[in-house]
Amino acid sequence: MIIAVDGPLASGKGTIARALADHFGLPHLDTGSLYRATGLAVIEAGIDPADAGACARLAAQLDLAAIDEDRIRTAEAGAMASRVAAIPQVREALFDLQRTFATQPGGAILDGRDIGTVICPDAEVKLFVTADAETRARRRWEELRAKGEALSFETMLEQTRERDARDAERTDAPMKPADDATLLDTSSLSIDAAVATAIRIVEKRQ
Ligand code: C5P
Repeated sequence: MIIAVDGPLASGKGTIARALADHFGLPHLDTGSLYRATGLAVIEAGIDPADAGACARLAAQLDLAAIDEDRIRTAEAGAMASRVAAIPQVREALFDLQRTFATQPGGAILDGRDIGTVICPDAEVKLFVTADAETRARRRWEELRAKGEALSFETMLEQTRERDARDAERTDAPMKPADDATLLDTSSLSIDAAVATAIRIVEKRQ
């Protein structure tokens, strides 16, 4: 079984995908980490993000096992991730890796922005996890503050709206629910309630 979990920043999709992976014993790939790692590599190499070819070469060289989870989870790497994610050659360079992960025997769970629409249009279960922008900005702001990143809530809200717009408005694989996706709004749900709802949705399809 392939489970696709898409949605915007801090909607809860990552937490839900990890919990589903645990519950159903499936391997999980957070595809945002691929774009974040590419964004970080672009920053570190001092490459101009407008240079599509150079960004795509870095994406093609990504080593999943070498991704440094702490360093890709900064606001800076996230912002650069959404810039490089708008480059079609970067998306193409990351396609096979995601598709191979998705089609391993026994199934898989992938979370991202375009899993249900582009990477796994054949997924048995498609969830699109949402929450209002203020709730999402507050969640991410609290996470980053706990890690010692100093930024104001207003800046975080602005960045959240910018990122949503860039992800939803790009022409290649824009963030949007697949026609056959189930919407899950987590704005007023606890993590446990959101996870329990997601488990029920998957169980209905089994
Ligand atoms: O999910 P996360 O916030 O880590 O993703 C970082 C960025 O990577 C997103 O803002 C988006 O631009 C990009 N992304 C994407 N397609 C995916 C996953 C992430 O374009 N499947």
